Amino acid sequence: MNVPFGSLVPPCDEFESSRFPGMGQMAKVSLRPVRDEDVSLFEAEISTPEGAGEHAWFGYRSFNGMRTKIAEEGLLGPDLGGLTVEADGSVAGWVTWLKHYWGPEITSWSWSIGITIFAAFRGRGIGTETQIQLTEYLFLHTRAERIQAFTDADNRAEQRALEKAGFQREGVIRNAQWRMGGWHDQWLYSILRENFNDK
Ligand SMILES: CC(C)(COP(=O)(O)OP(=O)(O)OC[C@H]1O[C@@H](n2cnc3c(N)ncnc32)[C@H](O)[C@@H]1OP(=O)(O)O)[C@@H](O)C(=O)NCCC(=O)NCCS
Repeated sequence: MNVPFGSLVPPCDEFESSRFPGMGQMAKVSLRPVRDEDVSLFEAEISTPEGAGEHAWFGYRSFNGMRTKIAEEGLLGPDLGGLTVEADGSVAGWVTWLKHYWGPEITSWSWSIGITIFAAFRGRGIGTETQIQLTEYLFLHTRAERIQAFTDADNRAEQRALEKAGFQREGVIRNAQWRMGGWHDQWLYSILRENFNDK
């Protein structure tokens, strides 16, 4: 498969992970470029604590920045990107990636990924499969050496989803996130290209 970064994601059958066979009992998950009409769904979903999830409710957020990025570059730019998650053909959430720098920008960047699965679709393996597919997509179509994610120290669902997607826990980032009137520790996870190649 040779799809340049920034072009359309190939059809689901082509892009479904071959690294984790046996996940076939759940909905068929695929990633595709974000369309304008998806953004209102995202916005509605995370406009309540229940929709955002107990570890990801930060109050109301504007999605105008996402709309601008879609208009400019399809939300598939060189330093950040996003894709819509579909489950059995329905919009089920979205993922993002953003360059994080551990040193000089030109040599020391890694992707930092984020995910929201709509409440109605949670707990069915979709978040795990999504992060497997996103990792595969980013290693195949970009030169990333490292993909990282952080999540709340109490967000067991995301921790398990990352671990099942091949991420390793690296450590705790203390009092990193202000949410709901208090500071929260975050766990940092990563997967390296060599881990991906070894699968
Ligand atoms: C976190 C999230 C992406 C996980 O996706 P998901 O589709 O719900 O997760 P999965 O169904 O793939 O489950 C992954 C693992 O977490 C477990 N899990 C799911 N929901 C759980 C919960 N509420 N509490 C504890 N474990 C849970 C599952 O049992 C599974 O582990 P297992 O295979 O050992 O049984 C999704 O729940 C979500 O979008 N939540 C709201 C936003 C959020 O927290 N985003 C991440 C911010 S860093």
